Amino acid sequence: MQTVHTRAALAAALDPWRRAGERIALVPTMGNLHAGHLALVRRARAEADRVVATIFVNPLQFDRPEDLAAYPRTLEADAAALAGAGVDLLFAPAEQEVYPRGRDGVTRVEVPGLGDELEGAHRPGHFIGVATVVCKLFAMTRPDVAVFGEKDFQQLLIIRTMNADLDLGVRVLSEPTVREPDGLAMSSRNGYLGPEDRARAPALHAALSVFGEALTRGERDFPALEQAARSQIEAAGLRPEYVSLRRRQDLDLPGPGDRELVILAAAWCGPARLIDNLP
Ligand code: PAF
Repeated sequence: MQTVHTRAALAAALDPWRRAGERIALVPTMGNLHAGHLALVRRARAEADRVVATIFVNPLQFDRPEDLAAYPRTLEADAAALAGAGVDLLFAPAEQEVYPRGRDGVTRVEVPGLGDELEGAHRPGHFIGVATVVCKLFAMTRPDVAVFGEKDFQQLLIIRTMNADLDLGVRVLSEPTVREPDGLAMSSRNGYLGPEDRARAPALHAALSVFGEALTRGERDFPALEQAARSQIEAAGLRPEYVSLRRRQDLDLPGPGDRELVILAAAWCGPARLIDNLP
C-alpha cells in the first residue's frame, strides 16, 4: 500500500489507474479504525479494481472543540490495518492540504432540511462539515464507487442526496453496522467508555431492538414507543438526546401506511455520545 499526504501525490498515484480504465473505490474515514471500517474496505475491494482509503480528522464537522482535540489519531496502526485489508492507496492529508485557504472561509456544501434535524439539530454545522469534506474528497479522488457505514444513517442519506443534487456521479454504497457481541455498535468513540459506561452502553441497541420488535408485532402508537425506548435508555443510566422513528428513504416522519422505517437514536453514556439506528 502506498501512502500519500498531498493532493498532488494523490493525483499522480491515481492517474495511471484511471488511464488504464481501472475502477476506483473510495473509503473515506477519520481513522482510529475498527472492524466496521474494514468491512467497508472489503466491500470496496469487491466493487472495484483499486481501493483508496482516506484518513482525515475533519475539523469542519466537529461542533465541540474538545471533541476535535480528543479524537484519537492512530495513523500508524490504521495504515497497517488498511494495508492488511487490501487497500492500494492511503490518502492522509494535513488540514492545510484539504483547506488551503483555511477552514473558516471555505466554500461549503449544505443539504438543507435533511441536514438540520436529528444529528443536525444536536450538532449544529456537523453535516455541512461532512458534506463539504466528502464533496472535496470525491472531487480529489473522482472515484467510481464510495462506501460508507450505515451506523451513520443520516450521514449516508445526506451524502447520497449531495451526490445526486450536485451530479457527482459516484455510486454511493453502504454496509450494515458492525456490532460487538453484546450489541454495541462499533465506533471510534467507544474507546472513551470506562468499564462501567462500557457495561451500560449496549442498552442503546437493546432499547432499539425492543422498539423494533413492537413494530414488527404491529404496534403503531409511534410516540408511545419512542417514549418507552427513551425511558428504557434512561433506566440503564444513559442520557438520551433523541429516539425517533422515521421513513427509511428520506427520514420524514412516518404515516400509518409506511412500512420501510428506521429507528434512530443518540444518547450520552458517560463521556461518550453514542448514536445507533435500527432499520
Ligand atoms: O463517517 C466518517 O468517518 C466521517 O464523517 C467521514 C464520512 C469520513 C467524513 O469526514
